[in-house]
Amino acid sequence: MTQSARIHVRVAEIEPLNATLRRITLQHAEGALLPASAPGAHIQIELRGDTRSWRNAYSLVSPPGTRTAYSIIVRKVPQGRGGSLYLHERLAVGQTLTILPPVNLFPIAGLARKHLMLAAGIGVTPFLSTRAALAETPFELHLRCHAADQPAFQTLLAPWPHAHIHAGPDFNPTDLLRHQPLGTHLYLCGPTGFMQAAEAAARTLGWPAARIHQEHFGAPTGGRAFDAVLARTGRTIHVAQDQTLLEALEAADIDAPSLCRGGACGECRLPLLAGTPDHRDHFLSESEHATSIMPCVSRSHAETITIDI
Ligand code: FES
Repeated sequence: MTQSARIHVRVAEIEPLNATLRRITLQHAEGALLPASAPGAHIQIELRGDTRSWRNAYSLVSPPGTRTAYSIIVRKVPQGRGGSLYLHERLAVGQTLTILPPVNLFPIAGLARKHLMLAAGIGVTPFLSTRAALAETPFELHLRCHAADQPAFQTLLAPWPHAHIHAGPDFNPTDLLRHQPLGTHLYLCGPTGFMQAAEAAARTLGWPAARIHQEHFGAPTGGRAFDAVLARTGRTIHVAQDQTLLEALEAADIDAPSLCRGGACGECRLPLLAGTPDHRDHFLSESEHATSIMPCVSRSHAETITIDI
């Protein structure tokens, strides 16, 4: 993140939606207008704890084009790497944060005859900013969620005339996918297992890849600690258990680009020279895994990995 790209924002409002979901609203720290965002866009937020920092991506749920404030919804994940706990337990109204301008990796397909959106849990958030953009085209949104989250999601989806909430684990989209008109585009967002199952069902039914769009919102998980050797300088960077390789590079002030921070966009790709990588991305092919690694999510099975930077 270059200095010029950073935007300083102030926490304007924190609104609990239930025990584990909260909406956080951010305004420009100096009262200026924020950059316009597109439907489905996300921002990166930099968080500084006592001993470490995080940079996480969150979908904007505020209406696109709103330049006075950005809103995000954050799920508290006690077993996560700490970013969501910070946002639930430490963040206070008035606090200043640093963000990156909105980026949209999950646009609505302009030529679609219909939009079919399937989400699970907090994976509904990228869709919440798309409602106005769908006005001209038929659409349908299905959300699978825990029963405890149903009231909160019902409130969030109140403006959606074609939203269906399926509380419990039993939602199977196969029939839905089978009976869509030609030209329908499918959008998926949720945990990896949910997305893989829905994509597999769609592909089995003959949906072309070009009509399946996915947002990998899942936060990277930790793993065993390891060292990354940077071949060009000989420097060794330690990656802690609850840190990603990308975060370790950023903490060491090494310029490392990123967009989605979820292993899906390809922006952070680094050449791999040696080691036993633990690939966790959704972007590289099997053959590309031999020579590249996505540091936003992937780790090392061995104590050391060598990358060509
Ligand atoms: S930042 Fe998108 S794949 Fe790593």
